Amino acid sequence: MSIRSICQQVPVIPVLVVHDATLAQPLAQALVSGGLHVLEVTLRTSAALEVIRRMSEVPGSIVGAGTVLTPADVKAVKAAGASFAVSPGVTDSLLSAAEDEGLLLLPGAATVSEVMKLLERGYDTLKFFPAEAAGGVKMLKSIHGPLPDVRFCPTGGISVQTIREYLALPNVLCVGGSWLTPEDKVLAHDWAGIESIARFNCELVKVA
Ligand code: 3PG
Repeated sequence: MSIRSICQQVPVIPVLVVHDATLAQPLAQALVSGGLHVLEVTLRTSAALEVIRRMSEVPGSIVGAGTVLTPADVKAVKAAGASFAVSPGVTDSLLSAAEDEGLLLLPGAATVSEVMKLLERGYDTLKFFPAEAAGGVKMLKSIHGPLPDVRFCPTGGISVQTIREYLALPNVLCVGGSWLTPEDKVLAHDWAGIESIARFNCELVKVA
């Protein structure tokens, strides 16, 4: 498995902020049932590592860790069973830690120079973050000319209104976003509602 092959499996990777580990399995199950089986659990809550552990047990899921910032984060998410890590940007020590641990990494980049540096180090599948704030669809179109081999998962400010524009680009494999799991639905344990949001987004991108 490579990070590119993971990104090729789904149109959207839900970016999850989960405060309560008891919600991990029903939430993951709802998303997987709705067609979105690649999940990113951000390290933004104290429950995140336990959420990664529990979600990873849901059949069919591929669970990664997001907001991975430091070598210590890399070690912790690997130990929790994450299949991959996502970082908003990179440092040399973060890249080295992921390489040393053998953990697949989707590293973040927002400028052409950052993309070139990552490409030089062997990373050709990147998170484009923060997508909307860093130039969105226009920026990705511009990058494709000089750097045609790089593929992106844009994340940050993307919504159901803009997903199709991103996925139509030749250098976009999938997008990431938090809009699939509205907080009110999660708090209400509205798993059927979340499954239907996931399914709706999958269907939407199939329509030409
Ligand atoms: C991320 O953590 O990757 C982004 O903050 C998610 O962005 P969104 O909330 O705008 O979808």
